[in-house]
Amino acid sequence: MLLQVKDVQQVSNAMMNMLHEKEIGIINDFHDAAIARDIDKIDELFKVVQFDIEDHFTTEEEMMQESKFYAMQMHKSEHDTMRGKVKDLLEEWDKNKEPLKIQRFLEDEFKHWMVLHVSRWDSETAMHLGDTM
Ligand SMILES: [Fe+2]
Ligand SMILES: [Fe+2]
Repeated sequence: MLLQVKDVQQVSNAMMNMLHEKEIGIINDFHDAAIARDIDKIDELFKVVQFDIEDHFTTEEEMMQESKFYAMQMHKSEHDTMRGKVKDLLEEWDKNKEPLKIQRFLEDEFKHWMVLHVSRWDSETAMHLGDTM
């Protein structure tokens, strides 16, 4: 298991916590498939992962926009960096179908990014949003 729900900080907005919990589940399945070197499963889950990450980021960005969060651009630019990394990973995957690259990305980059991003940006955004959305 790459990430446990308790590894990621709870924030003061229920929608965001729900998005994070869902993403942890999907990412763990993706990580399992990478460890199992299951190319078909990785192909299938990559689409789910991309859709889920986009849903997670877009939902937060829409909430920030509606509530006019002062640091929206900085928060969004962290999302954009990760969007770019996932896109690069998918391009690399489509070329070489190398499960180890996926495993390394999840263990060496995504896991730490998720933990830090939530504690730095999502927690502050959630405090601004409150639980009204
Ligand atoms: Fe988030
Ligand atoms: Fe975020």
